[in-house]
Amino acid sequence: MVARVLLLWGLLVLGAPVLAEEPVPLAAYRGPVSGWPAPEVDEGVAWVELAALPEPDVDPMWTAETRLGRLLFFDPWLSGSGQISCASCHDPDLAWTDGRRVPFGHDRMPGTRNTPSLINVGYLDTLMWDGRADSLEQQAGLPLVSHVEMNARPDRVVARLERDPAYADWFTDAFGDADITYPRIVAALADFQRHLTTRRTPFDEFMEGRRTALDDQEIRGLHWFRTQGRCMNCHHGPLLTDQAFHNLGLNFYGRPLQDLGRYAISGEAGDVGRFRTPPLRGVAYTAPYMHNGMIPALRNVLLFYNKGGAHPPKGEEHRDAPLFPSTSDHLRPLHLSEAQLADLEAFLRALSVKPNRLPMRFEQTLRDRARRRADQAGSQPR
Ligand code: HEC
Ligand code: HEC
Repeated sequence: MVARVLLLWGLLVLGAPVLAEEPVPLAAYRGPVSGWPAPEVDEGVAWVELAALPEPDVDPMWTAETRLGRLLFFDPWLSGSGQISCASCHDPDLAWTDGRRVPFGHDRMPGTRNTPSLINVGYLDTLMWDGRADSLEQQAGLPLVSHVEMNARPDRVVARLERDPAYADWFTDAFGDADITYPRIVAALADFQRHLTTRRTPFDEFMEGRRTALDDQEIRGLHWFRTQGRCMNCHHGPLLTDQAFHNLGLNFYGRPLQDLGRYAISGEAGDVGRFRTPPLRGVAYTAPYMHNGMIPALRNVLLFYNKGGAHPPKGEEHRDAPLFPSTSDHLRPLHLSEAQLADLEAFLRALSVKPNRLPMRFEQTLRDRARRRADQAGSQPR
């Protein structure tokens, strides 16, 4: 009724129909999910309904191995220079990322890809922007030896940790004997990272049935996320990702910033410029965005999608380039109004809770460790 009056008014005053926004069925969203409007997804998309974060596969209780993993995660002796730890880039105070467009590593060399947050990383089947690792154990080896990241050699890392007497006790607590091995190091790192799950977000509480956990604006955002925003084509299911690879047009094909993404792993022409759909919990705290960190804020991400993503033109110089990628068909201009964009942003923020700070007691453990090493003769890393 209201919509019809608005339309009539638009016709009379402007001589052309003014698109009146569909009213959002707030009451339906406050009821069971089965009564929600269906999402607008393209044909063939095997979408999965949104849901609260499932129980983790691991026992949420910390074991001695988890605690050892945390000590290793914060240990700069895992790097060639003895100065860079995993936490240098995955910083708990910055939602387990670094707040930078791209990180810098050994010799302050800039990387090429944005550091992902590690929030809920244990739930993912494929790791890295191009999916080149499929377990946390396998992944941990990559930054350790990468010369732009930590530039370490596994044998030297083991030898070094053997020189810190405290590790003998920590390894015994975790594994039953003091043997320090590379597989144990990566296993402990993986175990620790599997415990980095988000505390309950307003969205999770809402999905578990407390339908007042989201306010009207956030529910409107949820509605645009499912419908006119078309986000559910790729961000769906309990993790808000299909864990598949798509090209949003940010690959800079043939230009200095070129990143071919998934293609480098699969060798399939269709994978050029495709990157893994990131999960979205915690996203309010993990700017800047995208595999190359090009988009500074959530508002800009939404403006980008509203335009239909990036569609770099195939210039004359690429006429014969068989690998020139095309942007995903799922991306089209969305015609979302300012108010709708604000709603969507409010919804994305409701997917996040401020990350836990590091316990002060653990910070003291790190300080003690650094002091002990400084006092120990010949303790400088080699
Ligand atoms: C120099 C910065 C830097 C350091 C140090 C670093 N990382 Fe990363 N990490 C990154 C970047 C950048 C990526 C994404 C790389 C890519 O996709 O190509 C990443 C990706 C990851 C991922 C995959 C996350 C996902 O969503 O797929 C995990 C897990 C991870 N790092 C754990 C670690 C661990 C464990 C260490 C220490 C052994 C470590 N990182 C050290 C920058 C760093
Ligand atoms: C075609 C599949 C697809 C659709 C549709 C889509 N996304 Fe994405 N989204 C992705 C992929 C893939 C990336 C990473 C792309 C890259 O880095 O090049 C991404 C990145 C993001 C990021 C940045 C996350 C980060 O950690 O850097 C946000 C936020 C986001 N999407 C939200 C949305 C919203 C909101 C919508 C709907 C308006 C949407 N997406 C629609 C696939 C999609």
